Amino acid sequence: MIFTTKSEAETEKIGYRLAEILSGDGLERAFIAMRGEMGVGKTAFTRGFASYFDISGVRSPTYTVVNEYRGKCRIFHFDMYRISDGDDLYSIGYDDYVESDGFCIAEWSENISDYLPDGTITVTINRTSEENGREIVIDYENSGV
Ligand SMILES: Nc1ncnc2c1ncn2[C@@H]1O[C@H](COP(=O)(O)OP(=O)(O)OP(=O)(O)O)[C@@H](O)[C@H]1O
Ligand SMILES: [Mg+2]
Repeated sequence: MIFTTKSEAETEKIGYRLAEILSGDGLERAFIAMRGEMGVGKTAFTRGFASYFDISGVRSPTYTVVNEYRGKCRIFHFDMYRISDGDDLYSIGYDDYVESDGFCIAEWSENISDYLPDGTITVTINRTSEENGREIVIDYENSGV
């Protein structure tokens, strides 16, 4: 699926839409790997995704590495910007999160490409030539949805 957006609010809506699609299919857990450069809208997308489950106040996990939210489901929101190897992942308890019930959403998933679980959904956001334009590519081919 490919979308284009022209504002932060529109990107949030696409995140909301993905949550709707996944939960409409009965999915209660998934790993979503976000890709895209700094300030492209990964956190905005996650905020919209979380809002579908009545979770508000989503903020960048820059300093915490992972933020945990609980609403109609659990969401574990990662910032992998400073993660560079398996030891770093081990130290944040990554495997336990991956096996937990809920949705894992990882920003800077480029840094953990060797550690993505089977069935990972990828969301790639790129800037377009238009002002505030973004192209969002969602690939859930492997997710079973
Ligand atoms: N179409 C758009 N979609 C999303 N954000 C947009 C868009 N146009 C402009 N913006 C702006 O881009 C910024 C996106 O910030 P956000 O924190 O979501 O990015 P990020 O990819 O998570 O960055 P980081 O890599 O630092 O975590 C916001 O300031 C937002 O207002
Ligand atoms: Mg972010």
